[in-house]
Amino acid sequence: MSTVAIDLSCVRKSYGDKIVVDGLSFAVASGECFGLLGPNGAGKSTIARMVLGMVAPDTGKMTVLGEPVPARARLARARIGVVPQFDNLELEFTVRENLLVFGRYFNMSAREVEAVVPALLEFARLESKADARVAELSGGMKRRLTLARALINDPHLLVMDEPTTGLDPHARHLIWERLRLLLARGKTILLTTHFMEEAERLCDRLCVLEAGRKIAEGEPRALIDEQIGCQVIEIYGGNPHELSSLIRPYARHIEVSGETLFCYAPDPEQVLVQLRGRVGLRLLQRPANLEDVFLRLTGREMER
Ligand SMILES: Nc1ncnc2c1ncn2[C@@H]1O[C@H](COP(=O)(O)OP(=O)(O)O)[C@@H](O)[C@H]1O
Ligand SMILES: [Mg+2]
Repeated sequence: MSTVAIDLSCVRKSYGDKIVVDGLSFAVASGECFGLLGPNGAGKSTIARMVLGMVAPDTGKMTVLGEPVPARARLARARIGVVPQFDNLELEFTVRENLLVFGRYFNMSAREVEAVVPALLEFARLESKADARVAELSGGMKRRLTLARALINDPHLLVMDEPTTGLDPHARHLIWERLRLLLARGKTILLTTHFMEEAERLCDRLCVLEAGRKIAEGEPRALIDEQIGCQVIEIYGGNPHELSSLIRPYARHIEVSGETLFCYAPDPEQVLVQLRGRVGLRLLQRPANLEDVFLRLTGREMER
């Protein structure tokens, strides 16, 4: 069997005169968690829908689980589980009924579905909610049910479109833990997200998207080291322009986003000395993360 789960080559998609996916190529290895990271409108859902064969690219080639897509998407889909961006559960049905109904889409018999339901409920930590109507569940529970539902056909590949958007931190951590369990079981995950932290925690590799274009690709840690490679000091509460001229000699680079000044400093102490004694400033020193990479790549660096 191929070790490449998804292969996109020079894929383009426009709606009207708007280019939504602009010559995108990437490959996802079997067993990895691959992230599509970008802000709203970057094209993440369109790419996910193309991988599923729901949207056809204008040009380019795609192979998913060894099948050319969209031509043979139906064959690929039999081994894919989908978590759509917006839950589409049957709200008036119970948790168990939702799983039973969904199993029929995969031509599973009632007996076959019933055999897997207990393990799915356990996976989703919904054992005690089996007979509750979906309308009564919290957002996190609904998301976990959607995840359990996606596993009903024991798929090799999971396509998850923003699986934790809208959830509180506790619910989000629970989903992350479940996803890591799936990866430990050898599943492949294509995950879209606009949460840098989510991408950094879960993804083996990721592709950073802006307006349908890939602006970076790699392992999160490697991207952070390549693009930033030093400590960050966040400075709030002063005049960013005045402060940036003060600390510029000690910074590798400086960025301003909103009211925050980000100073990337090989030797943070030198910067902190300059700011000592200034009233009204709040400082936070931390290691670099993917958000810094994104700010850097989207070109909001201040002139030096
Ligand atoms: N069916 C569609 N018709 C017209 N424009 C669309 C359609 N689907 C998406 N778009 C546009 O394509 C761009 C990317 O959308 P989408 O893939 O949903 O991005 P993301 O999931 O990253 O937020 C947006 O500007 C969106 O308005
Ligand atoms: Mg989307």
